[in-house]
Amino acid sequence: MLKFLDARARRAFFLVPFACFATAAISPADAADVVNIYSYRQPDLIQPMLDAFTAETGIETQIIFAEKGLEERIRAEGTNSPADVILTVDISRLAAAKDVGVTQPVNDAAVTVNIAPQYRDGDGHWFGLTMRSRVVFASRDRVPEDTITYEELADPKWKGRICTRSGQHVYNIGLFASMIAHHGQEWAETWLRGVKDNLAVKPTGNDRAQAKAVFAGQCDIALGNTYYVALMRTNEKEPEQKEWADSIKVLFPNAGDRGSHVNISGMALAANAPHRDDALKLMAFLASDAAQKLYAETNHEYPVKAGVPVSEMVASFGQLKPDPLALSEIAKNRRIASELVDRVGYNDGPSS
Ligand SMILES: [Fe+2]
Repeated sequence: MLKFLDARARRAFFLVPFACFATAAISPADAADVVNIYSYRQPDLIQPMLDAFTAETGIETQIIFAEKGLEERIRAEGTNSPADVILTVDISRLAAAKDVGVTQPVNDAAVTVNIAPQYRDGDGHWFGLTMRSRVVFASRDRVPEDTITYEELADPKWKGRICTRSGQHVYNIGLFASMIAHHGQEWAETWLRGVKDNLAVKPTGNDRAQAKAVFAGQCDIALGNTYYVALMRTNEKEPEQKEWADSIKVLFPNAGDRGSHVNISGMALAANAPHRDDALKLMAFLASDAAQKLYAETNHEYPVKAGVPVSEMVASFGQLKPDPLALSEIAKNRRIASELVDRVGYNDGPSS
């Protein structure tokens, strides 16, 4: 039988294949003082926060981790679903969880008080826990500029000099959706065509691969999330990543006007939530000073709670001025953003 990761297996990287889901039979009454977490976030990233929660409250947590299919699983389980809390990254995925009906509203002040309105759903279906900014990785050697805007990425001065991952990746969809929210669809389409024309190569690889491409001289600027710079600079297992990260500087786009695009990792209360009270305690804890500090230190993300300091490494990038646009506005535009990516042939690369 498929089991939740228990205390002994917690630190193991555990991928649950979707095929197992249909046959899993976990009784919601398996344990009284436990919160069952369905997570798209890797267990080792969230375990320090969960350990701190258990130490403070005595409430155990169990994680099911998967890379996809958790919403389908919760829907299939229906009222028997043991899922209490859903943890995921990106506004697209949080909004999608609400759309398919696997979440329920939370209005508990203990949960909402620490999270500014632009980082949570107006109906209480999802809450941001951490922020990450989508910034420009610029070559230290070949880019003298210390400021940049997203709008400027379509300027011909960058022709043949930009690298990004797939335009359809949720991280880019979030950014493109924010451009639609700020400038309108028509403007955004012209802009995206301009960015595509400036690409050095066909979009490929993940965010770290973009830093590697800058290091290798394939392009001069790239798009990537802030925490990857910190993770590369501190990567002892693959020290070549330190070289990639050291070859770039972080430019916060639009620092001089509206601020840089941010996205979130977040949480939602599952629709069934058999351990609702304990789940709410966990949600409040994850938004508290103690957990927010751990998120900042361990994952190099920006705490969503105001006043909690970022890690020393993240502080070294300079000051983040977040675009105040509500994440729910970005969520509204994500489908149009995806259509624009196809319409301009973004993933076909330059000159196509
Ligand atoms: Fe990521």
